[in-house]
Amino acid sequence: MARILVVGPTGHLGRELVKACSQQGHEAHALVRPATRKDPAKMHALQAAGATIHEGDLKDYDSLLRACRSADIVISAVGGLQIGDEGALVKAVKEAGVQRFVPSDFGLDPAAAGPGSCVLFDAKAAVQASVKAAGIPYTFIHSNAFFSYWANSLGDLTRLGGKLPPEEVSVYGDGNVVGALTSVPDVARVTVRAVSDPRLRNKEIRITANTITQNLLIALWQTTSGRTVKRTSVPAAELEKMIARSTAPDQGATLVVSQLHRSLWIRGDSVKRVPASLEATEVYPDMAFQTIEQGLAQLV
Ligand SMILES: NC(=O)c1ccc[n+]([C@@H]2O[C@H](COP(=O)([O-])OP(=O)(O)OC[C@H]3O[C@@H](n4cnc5c(N)ncnc54)[C@H](OP(=O)(O)O)[C@@H]3O)[C@@H](O)[C@H]2O)c1
Repeated sequence: MARILVVGPTGHLGRELVKACSQQGHEAHALVRPATRKDPAKMHALQAAGATIHEGDLKDYDSLLRACRSADIVISAVGGLQIGDEGALVKAVKEAGVQRFVPSDFGLDPAAAGPGSCVLFDAKAAVQASVKAAGIPYTFIHSNAFFSYWANSLGDLTRLGGKLPPEEVSVYGDGNVVGALTSVPDVARVTVRAVSDPRLRNKEIRITANTITQNLLIALWQTTSGRTVKRTSVPAAELEKMIARSTAPDQGATLVVSQLHRSLWIRGDSVKRVPASLEATEVYPDMAFQTIEQGLAQLV
């Protein structure tokens, strides 16, 4: 049993990580911002998992150091907007002598996509480089696309947000490029297994348990739900123009979303095998991953 601190435990992924920590017999610790601690809706899952709460903030170094000192392992699940603030956490992890650190990657492998492919991947790659340079024992998790974002939106993140997948979507490129999707509970289960696994020390692991094209994803939803989805084609060249037009500072979200669509559906980055990275389905052959069929069936 290890003491595992989750930073960002009230987020979409973080709460599943806390749950996985206690399900796998670890002592769960959670770094929660002081104001968030007063939010019963956010605290409920942490309390249910029996997590020890540490008040803190990425912008308060002393709070990070205190929390890191109470843990053997630290997993960061802060959101994409907070990656630029992870430097203080890396420093605290180092000073506290933590045995294993997982920065907030949880997406496509920046090395598979290559530098300059997506500003979010570049920011995450910079954190990875700083972790390696500091000599911190690490595990990097390349979870690929979350079901809750990519299956629920039928592969078009601009349509995310409804209770059901959208009735109308953009199909990027020819719609026949394969992408890798994983459920968030499975991402959390792999992560918590990996951080306490000696084979994964100073290693990277990707999850390619389910692969599907955008066309097949839409077809599967239509079959599952009996609904019809209207498609609008966005050719690769059009997506490139959207990326080129979205460079103003106030268009950051549009830029990232367009770059993510290009990476997953045009360039096929999520299924590129990078030699430095191990494959979760091979490292953990006993794990039953949720399928896309099961994920979509839950939405009906
Ligand atoms: N592969 C995919 O399809 C996919 C999809 C979505 C996200 N992701 C990745 O998954 C990771 C987690 O993202 P998420 O969507 O789960 O995040 P999220 O839901 O936005 O949650 C962010 C967490 O960080 C905490 N936080 C925010 N600012 C903080 C600060 N200054 N100090 C300390 N904690 C702070 C939040 O706490 P409060 O409750 O206090 O705000 C919350 O617990 C990110 O790396 C993201 O890029 C991947």
